Amino acid sequence: MVDVERLRAEFRALYGQTPQVFSAPGRVNLIGEHTDYNEGFVLPMAIERRTFVASALNGTSMVRVKSLTLDQAFEFDLERPGPKRRGSWLDYVEGTARALMDRGIPVVGCDLLLDSNVPHGAGVSASAALELAVGIALSVLGGTREPDRVKLALAGQAAEHNYVGTMCGIMDQYIASLGQADSALLIDCRTLETKSVPINLNGVSVLVCDTRVKHELSSSEYNLRRAECLRGSNILAKSLPGVRTLRDVTVADFARLATQLPGVVRSRCRHVVTENARTLAAVDALNAGNLVAMGKLMAESHTSLRDDYQVSCEELDVAVDLASATPGVYGSRMTGGGFGGCTVSLVDNDAIDAVGRAVKEAFAARGWKEPELFATKACEGARLEP
Ligand code: GLA
Repeated sequence: MVDVERLRAEFRALYGQTPQVFSAPGRVNLIGEHTDYNEGFVLPMAIERRTFVASALNGTSMVRVKSLTLDQAFEFDLERPGPKRRGSWLDYVEGTARALMDRGIPVVGCDLLLDSNVPHGAGVSASAALELAVGIALSVLGGTREPDRVKLALAGQAAEHNYVGTMCGIMDQYIASLGQADSALLIDCRTLETKSVPINLNGVSVLVCDTRVKHELSSSEYNLRRAECLRGSNILAKSLPGVRTLRDVTVADFARLATQLPGVVRSRCRHVVTENARTLAAVDALNAGNLVAMGKLMAESHTSLRDDYQVSCEELDVAVDLASATPGVYGSRMTGGGFGGCTVSLVDNDAIDAVGRAVKEAFAARGWKEPELFATKACEGARLEP
């Protein structure tokens, strides 16, 4: 738990002012993986883990920022852009500040103190939580009373593209900005329209399992998958003139034209095309309260990510297999970019302990790090703390 009162006290001790505190959540994606940069559909929810930023104006052109979790401090001058891709968390902070300014949102000198309980490198989007917490703080301090939520999300994504060097889609920043309590959000990553999907899971929890295998999203694999998808949609567009991205390819079109695609590209495209269909079906299943159907879609999503998209790893597969084999579990899958990080499962409350035991025992038997499991509710996006 982050102790917000302690954060305020530390801020006063460090900078001699009373701060305003803002926060933004991590996220877990229920289904719709690696579809966002193909202009498809995703169904994430914001989780209870949050990044907090205490903040106050300092009357200079400098942004001074310290992280309590990392015990590191940096500063940069708003009038003089710093180097991009330093490889530190300052890239996310300065990248967000610059992206806000590029969008005409005033940013002024201020002091920031950060604290977080979003696990880092775990596939629950600690980076988007940081970008959005900083983004809302800088916007409000700069005089924008009610910052535009979509602009905030796009600024966070631009920080990733321009400063961090990860060519991510829009899912993580969008849900960190627009998340809603008790609902997942169906995001159409082409139009950026959202639909809230109430998560009324009577007696059932969303259980996150962090395998503690650190993923490296900016690693070439993510950008490689993007390029493979683009290659596939370009080939398919020759036979299907309306196709701009894989979003425009239906499951039936794909079945008819798949042989035009080279092997690996075909598998990547099959994942994306079927995952979009599964995501829309998942919304119907949740709206109908049909958790059995939802669980089946989650299982299919995992198989597709493992075999066709090849972004899973042994630890994720073991965690998913063990959860799926436990009575009281509706479905389980890897969540986020992959190559490590977390799984997400829908689990009867009575079965939560059994899943935890099974996964921990299996990891211990293989000599792997102990995984961390936590159940979470759907929460609000970026906000000013009372
Ligand atoms: C990462 C990216 C997202 C999305 C997922 C995979 O979390 O930041 O934009 O592409 O991977 O679904």
